Amino acid sequence: MFIILSVVILCINYLLYNTLYILIVYFSSIFCLLFLVYMKISIAFATLSGNTEKIAYELEKFLLNKSYDVDLLNLENTKVDELKKYDLVFLGCSTYGDGDLNLIMDIFLSEAEQICHLCESTKFAIFSLGDSIYPNFAIAGEIVEDKIINMGGEVIHPYIKIDGYPSSEVFEEIKKWTLEVLKFF
Ligand SMILES: Cc1cc2nc3c(=O)[nH]c(=O)nc-3n(C[C@H](O)[C@H](O)[C@H](O)COP(=O)(O)O)c2cc1C
Repeated sequence: MFIILSVVILCINYLLYNTLYILIVYFSSIFCLLFLVYMKISIAFATLSGNTEKIAYELEKFLLNKSYDVDLLNLENTKVDELKKYDLVFLGCSTYGDGDLNLIMDIFLSEAEQICHLCESTKFAIFSLGDSIYPNFAIAGEIVEDKIINMGGEVIHPYIKIDGYPSSEVFEEIKKWTLEVLKFF
C-alpha cells in the first residue's frame, strides 16, 4: 500500500513539475514575442551625399524582415523630442572636413544639447560613415557617441565604422553588427 501511494505521489509530482515547466516556457515565449512587437525602433540618419541614407534604408529592410516595428527618420526633418518615443535608435552619421560631423547631425545634436533631455530612456547604437583615405576615418561615430553619453543617453554597443560607398559587403557587415546590437534587448 505504502509503495503504491509513493508511486502515485511521485507520478503526480512528475506531472505537476512538467506542467509547471511547460507553463513557464509558454508564458516566457509570449512575453518575448510581445516585447518584440511593442519595442519601437527608429533609424535616424543625417546625410550629405546620400550614402548614410542608403545604409539606413538597408537596415530598415533588414529589421522589417525580422518583424520589428521600425521608423526611418531623416534628421533634417526631425524634432529632437521625436526620438524619445523609441526604445532603440540607430543613429547614422558621416564624417566631413577634418574629422568633423556632417552639418545636419551637428545642428541636430547642438539642438539636443540645448534642450538637454534627448534620451534618458532611449538606447542608442551608432553607425558612422567615412573613407579610410582620410586620417580621421569615420570619427563622426566617436563624436556622436560622446555627445549622446554626455546627454545621459545609453550607447548599448560600440559604433561601427563604414568605409566608402555602400556595397553588398558593407550591407552584410552592418547586418552582423545589428544582430550584435539586438542581443542587448
Ligand atoms: C569634403 C569631404 C570631406 C570628408 N572628410 C572625411 C573625413 O575627415 N574622414 C572620413 O572618414 N571621411 C571623410 N569623407 C568621406 C565621407 O564621410 C563619405 O563619403 C561618406 O560616405 C559620406 O556619407 P553621406 O553621403 O551620408 O554624407 C569626406 C568626404 C568629403 C566629400
